[in-house]
Amino acid sequence: MTNQQRLWDSLMTIAQIGATEKGGSRRLALTDLDREARDLFVRWCEEAGCTVSVDAMGNIFARRAGTSDALPPVLAGSHLDTQPNGGKFDGVFGVLAALEAVRTLNDHAIETKRAIEIVDWTNEEGSRFAPAMISSGVFGGAFELDYALGQTDVDGKTMAEELARIGYTGEAAVGGRPLAAYLEAHIEQGPILEAEAKTIGVVQGAQAQRWFEVTLTGQDAHAGTTPMNRRRDALVSAASIVTEVDRIGRSVVDGRATVGMMQVGPNSRNTIPGTCFFTVDMRHPDEDTLLGMSTELREYAAGIAADHGVEIDLREIWHSPPVVFDRHCIDAVQASVVDAGFAHMAIASGAGHDACYVARVAPTAMIFVPCVDGISHNELESATPEDLGAGAEVLVRSMIRLANE
Ligand code: GLV
Ligand code: MN
Ligand code: MN
Repeated sequence: MTNQQRLWDSLMTIAQIGATEKGGSRRLALTDLDREARDLFVRWCEEAGCTVSVDAMGNIFARRAGTSDALPPVLAGSHLDTQPNGGKFDGVFGVLAALEAVRTLNDHAIETKRAIEIVDWTNEEGSRFAPAMISSGVFGGAFELDYALGQTDVDGKTMAEELARIGYTGEAAVGGRPLAAYLEAHIEQGPILEAEAKTIGVVQGAQAQRWFEVTLTGQDAHAGTTPMNRRRDALVSAASIVTEVDRIGRSVVDGRATVGMMQVGPNSRNTIPGTCFFTVDMRHPDEDTLLGMSTELREYAAGIAADHGVEIDLREIWHSPPVVFDRHCIDAVQASVVDAGFAHMAIASGAGHDACYVARVAPTAMIFVPCVDGISHNELESATPEDLGAGAEVLVRSMIRLANE
């Protein structure tokens, strides 16, 4: 039913916006490149006959009317922003698979009872502005609008300023309207489907996450003249904590623990670093285990800071609890996979997704397709046109099912 080649061509066209040398995309949220991708997406949606609206978080909705248009719609999508060294598929696939669903309905002149909407959520990645999934988080009631709009990037620019700068501060209220269902197609970003030789993952839920920001303050001092026993080196303390974060992640089954971002001050080769800022991302499917991991981090970090004579400010800036998706939506996906005849399995998400927050206000499910070697958040991220086409096929069938209820 869906047009695999058209989906692939659309993915490759968006991937050119911010294309990187190794074949990925660098399209951080609310940059000029994000605007370019948004503008193209809006044009494509309008060409497909949709009515486009933008909300106060810059989330873009494109609506294809239903025959009973007053009923709550079925929404599907994901995000067009990427990691700094991002791939071509993370997020973009879910947005363009939803667009492919609308194009397919148009091709076959299929009407649905409920309206179908496509969404591009703003700043899913959480790379430029923390936390991740912030705009679907406002939609889902997890964050206040003012909190989200006030979040800053490393240069101190707020989301509100950057939304206005690229012309995507919308008029519509964020959320507060009923949805019949939300579906998100995504590459798995892990190795399971490939290893199990399955084309489709029927996603049951997602694991919990906690994000921390740590600032260590020691003392800038001369690298040549300061004896080793008189130093308060913030980076040396950070190094111990980074190693401990990794150890904690390995110490529990299914643990994940990562320091992905660090800023060292004054960042001069012959000055002992007096400050060090870094982030910690911890995840686990079980809430109590995750809490235990974060307690270990806090205790170890406080001890190191005391031993090294540096001050520590450790803040938990985000907690995303585990999510269980809606049984009825999962069943609709499952039935569609069976109809379409693809090899499939139930799977849990290791990554965070906008679906995790939308699930708070609407029946939600996700569809995964394999990606090569499970590699993601990497320019080399790769998926086949056939698997992506299969994911879009399952998406459109699930959307039709739910939109005709
Ligand atoms: C989303 O990109 C995540 O970090 O899970
Ligand atoms: Mn994603
Ligand atoms: Mn991502």
